Order: sequence, then structure tokens, then C-alpha cells
Amino acid sequence: MSGSGDRIPVLTVDGPSGVGKGAVSSRVARRLRWHVLDSGACYRVVALAALDAGLKIDQEDQLVALCERVDLSFEATEDGPLAWLGGEMVDSGLRAERVSRMASQVAALAPVRAALLDLQRSFCRPPGLVADGRDMGTVVFPDAPIKVFLDASIEERANRRYKQLKEKGENVKFAGLFRELKERDRRDRERAVSPTLPAADATIIDTSDLGIEAVVDRVLALVSDWLA
Ligand code: DC
Repeated sequence: MSGSGDRIPVLTVDGPSGVGKGAVSSRVARRLRWHVLDSGACYRVVALAALDAGLKIDQEDQLVALCERVDLSFEATEDGPLAWLGGEMVDSGLRAERVSRMASQVAALAPVRAALLDLQRSFCRPPGLVADGRDMGTVVFPDAPIKVFLDASIEERANRRYKQLKEKGENVKFAGLFRELKERDRRDRERAVSPTLPAADATIIDTSDLGIEAVVDRVLALVSDWLA
């Protein structure tokens, strides 16, 4: 590992909703046998707990208190990181639209983001970490030696998400999904704290015309270059 010295290597994979970060990060982590962090799941877990507790978005102290109780772990699968909360697999519950909406609102709160920093950094363990999110390369792991930002048009991302949900047998309408995605994009990109932006030293990959494996290969090539 000539590029790495003694540091635990971190590969950050940032980008907007529906760009395929999960599947790419998880597959890359499997090939490298590194850990994977799905940082979006941290916000989703807090959002789900907040909805269950009937909390409103302005109850910041209670929302921050929820962050301190998150006990998450991830399993890298070919389809994306699977989230486990305590000993329980919670993934599908975290992906519901109402949770996505609340997660995007919760993620705009600076105290919540600060409260989740240590948890996210705790996933940096040998032999390495693939960290998937919005601000992995800019805020959570600014010193990561390998940074990628995945992008694709909103039409392409909405299409992918629509197909995914249809395959799961969910009754979704494309127009509604597109609207939700656009609104979440706006909130994630325009918020004052940690907006979704590529780090200055990130490699930007437009995935609009690429299959997952082609993206995985490009990312693995960047890791190999760094290790060489
Ligand atoms: O990646 P995702 O869709 O599971 O993320 C859920 C929400 O959390 C989404 O609105 C973006 C936000 N998020 C964030 O602000 N920062 C991250 N590092 C990861 C996700």
C-alpha cells in the first residue's frame, strides 16, 4: 500500500439521491473486503425513530437525543449496504417514502449532523472503509485519499428508482416519485450545512450512460492507482 502509509484507507462515494451510490459502494467494499458505511441510513434511522415518537422537525433537542442511541451496522451486498439496527435488519422500513422525506428534513439540521459525526467516523476500521453519502469527502472524511462523486440526470435517477420499486411490486407513480426526488435534491443541495457537493479533490463520474459494473470498475481502478 504505497499510497496509504499507516492510515486506514477511506474511499468516499458522494452524490445525489438515486445515483446508485449504495450498490456501487457495497460492491466495491465486497471486492476490496473493506467495511461499508451507508451514512444516509444514519439519517433514516433517526427519521424513523422521530416519526415513531411523533416528533416534529423543530424539536431539535429530542432529535439530537435520538442520534445518541443509534446502534447501526452494515452488511455489504451486491444490491447495496443492508442496515442492521441492534440485531434487527431494518432496511426496507428505512426506505419508505415518508422516512425519505423526514430524513431529508432531519439531515438539514446542523445539531443532528454534528451528533452523527462520531458514529459515522467510528466505521473507519482496518482494512479500509467505503463511505457512501453526501458529505463524506467534504465533511466526515475530508482527508480521505480516494474520493468519488457520482452524478446522473434527475430523469435517469427517477427512472432507476421507479424501476427498482416496480420490481419490488410497489405501487408507485413516476410523476410523484419525480416530484419527491426533485424536492429532496433541492433540499440536499441548497441547505446551509453540508450541502451535496463534490469535494474539490473528488473524481466526478457521470453514471447516466453507465451500468453499475462499469462504475464499479472505474472506482476500483482509482483505488488500484492509489494503492500502486
Ligand atoms: O442516501 P439516502 O437517500 O439514504 O439519504 C437519506 C437522506 O439523508 C437524504 O435526504 C440525504 C441525507 N444525507 C445527508 O444529508 N448526508 C449524508 N451523508 C447522507 C445522507
